[in-house]
Amino acid sequence: MSAPTLQRPAPDEADLQRHFDAVIAAEHRIEPRDWMPDGYRRTLIRQIAQHAHSEIIGMQPEGDWLLAAPSLRRKAILLAKVQDEAGHGMYLYSAAETLGADRADLTDKLIERKQKYSSIFNYPTLTYADVGVIGWLVDGAAICNQVPLCRSSYGPYARAMIRICKEESFHQRQGYELLMTMMRGTPEQRAMVQDAVDRWWWPSLMMFGPPDADSPNSAQSMAWGIKRHSNDELRQRYVDMSVPQAEVLGVTLPDPDLEYDPATGHHRFGAIDWDEFQRVLAGDGPANAERIRRRRAARDDNAWVVEAATAYASKHGS
Ligand SMILES: [Fe+2]
Ligand SMILES: [Fe+2]
Repeated sequence: MSAPTLQRPAPDEADLQRHFDAVIAAEHRIEPRDWMPDGYRRTLIRQIAQHAHSEIIGMQPEGDWLLAAPSLRRKAILLAKVQDEAGHGMYLYSAAETLGADRADLTDKLIERKQKYSSIFNYPTLTYADVGVIGWLVDGAAICNQVPLCRSSYGPYARAMIRICKEESFHQRQGYELLMTMMRGTPEQRAMVQDAVDRWWWPSLMMFGPPDADSPNSAQSMAWGIKRHSNDELRQRYVDMSVPQAEVLGVTLPDPDLEYDPATGHHRFGAIDWDEFQRVLAGDGPANAERIRRRRAARDDNAWVVEAATAYASKHGS
């Protein structure tokens, strides 16, 4: 009888894949130390980087109003909100780093337009009502997109989303409260709110991405538990949520085809201009060039801070 072997053979790739599939099927989390297929890692890095870039670029349209906020209270709220978005970007870049990505490299890819960010942030903020509408609609759409991500199969991403979603709720409320205040104000203020709603409603519907039929990677992302609902499902949820909020606010959503369908319990809505979406995504929106120019300047002007912090960390071994 031979002595029992003390060494277990290294698992081969098929074993690892079986274990990964079992973890996903059981709705458990994949953690950074776990084996994962290359496609899963690549998809997550792309999605998390795009999400992080959106948080950071998303600071710009609202940041434009920090010095022009109409009161100290509004300035404090807006400052807190814009700082939250910076924090969201940081959590998300950290989550991407657990997958082996490098933060500086991701920033370079954003600036070189090799990675995307949400097309919504390529629209300008023309009046202070835009700050309210971004909170209500853009953060509202972000909440619809992000709440299911709290159950994403990748642990660090899911955990980052839990905190982010709590802060997004505050963002939506502050926007809605600002709009409520304006709607109780002068006719000019009410007109400003309606004008902002007219400009942001359709781009906010585009935040959920192309229709399911034109979203080829969605099925794989859903099978991997990265994504939990399809683009069209989330878009419908957002419309159903926003219509009663618009009624309470007293604004008209700019869609003559918007109509409640008692048979389905959902609101039907008009056709989205996907050509506009593709144009803005390809770089031809009203503010794309400005967004990237500022991000590039921020990276270059602050390079000395990164250098100093890196030198300090290496000296002190932290
Ligand atoms: Fe955010
Ligand atoms: Fe937000």
